[in-house]
Amino acid sequence: MNRETSHSTKMLLFVIRFAIFLRVSSAWPSLSHQEDDFTSEDEPEEVRSAAIKRLLEVFGMEDPPAVHGHKQPPQYMLDLYNTVADVDGVTKDPYLLEGNTVRSFFDKLRSEQVEFRFNLSIVARTEKVLTAELHLFKLRPQTSSSRHHFCQVSVYQLLDNRKTNSTQGRKLLSSRLVPVHSTGWEVFTITQAVRSWMQDEGSNLGLQVVVRSLGGSQVDLKLVRFASGRHHHQSKQPMLVLFTDDGRRSATLESQNPHEVISTSILPQISMSGSPSRSARSLDHVDEEGRLKPCQRLPLYVDFEEIGWSGWIVSPRGYNAYHCKGSCSFPLGQNMKPTNHATVQSIINALKLIRGIQTPCCVPDKLFSINLLYFDDDENVVLKQYNDMVAGSCGCH
Ligand SMILES: *[C@@H]1O[C@H](CO)[C@@H](O)[C@H](O)[C@H]1NC(C)=O
Ligand SMILES: *[C@@H]1O[C@H](CO)[C@@H](O)[C@H](O)[C@H]1NC(C)=O
Repeated sequence: MNRETSHSTKMLLFVIRFAIFLRVSSAWPSLSHQEDDFTSEDEPEEVRSAAIKRLLEVFGMEDPPAVHGHKQPPQYMLDLYNTVADVDGVTKDPYLLEGNTVRSFFDKLRSEQVEFRFNLSIVARTEKVLTAELHLFKLRPQTSSSRHHFCQVSVYQLLDNRKTNSTQGRKLLSSRLVPVHSTGWEVFTITQAVRSWMQDEGSNLGLQVVVRSLGGSQVDLKLVRFASGRHHHQSKQPMLVLFTDDGRRSATLESQNPHEVISTSILPQISMSGSPSRSARSLDHVDEEGRLKPCQRLPLYVDFEEIGWSGWIVSPRGYNAYHCKGSCSFPLGQNMKPTNHATVQSIINALKLIRGIQTPCCVPDKLFSINLLYFDDDENVVLKQYNDMVAGSCGCH
């Protein structure tokens, strides 16, 4: 493990442990161990707010988003979250999402026409735009009589005529045949337009949707209709979905599918540790003969409600970050996944060849990412992936 990663990991785990400790010291037997030499009672308010601030930084924020009232997140975002994350928020497959951020925006124009505008000012300039999609809900036709089976739906980017010197004032982004009698979500790629808006926010004049028959004539809007933010239920509102990467991917140990690792290295470790019960005794650090238990992975639940973040985080309610605890003394078995360096150090320690050489450290040797689904300051729903948040397994290093 490289030293920097190890350090930042320890720092992160420290911050999480600390932040939780401030609220729920009594509920966490593994945290009230004597080596945690502070308690919630004598922790001054400044330290507490500094810790929470640092924790927000881990989640890429300066302040917790202000959430006004309870809104229902778009079903698309909930489905996406459930596809990429398990119940605990842990990433199921790191290759499912290309970037690490997905945002949904609602139309601000709420026009009578089939025109939409989305305010993307919350997206940082530094974020790399990967894909942008316009999601429109196609409604059931109001008339059933139609000679047509298909229509051509085209999405245009509205342009400033004076700047582009064109007479048309719009640019075709995406066009597709859609069955006239279908109902449900239609998705159009509009990445080009969003890239240009990110470069010049003022150029965002919105999008226009045009429906034509196959012969090219305008189609009756009674026949082919899309839900609007003005007239239809919130769950059918036009939506822009933006996939970006904020570049916060650190050099990590994470590379494997967490579920593969569970099947190979975590289970043997659990069965090795002896007492399988979840009693307080199994959390004790010492075995019957008073020896330190070998290095192992133990639970460390981070509860967002306890931290006071449940207002803006939709999912998960919390997650198990785990922590590593136990002795790394000679002989180090293969289940400790020792580095050669750790093996040698444990031998030097056991032989007491040199004074002051301790046993190696019990630290995470695999880290997984978690996913958060939350409301941002503009009440858009965001799905974000955070690396190195969960100790996947522990080893002596
Ligand atoms: C977009 O939203 C920001 C606040 O998030 C606001 O300051 C800005 O005026 C909005 N832009 C438009 C064009 O409405
Ligand atoms: C706009 O187009 C006209 C002719 O079509 C041309 O004479 C003029 O220079 C153009 N202006 C700009 C700013 O490109």
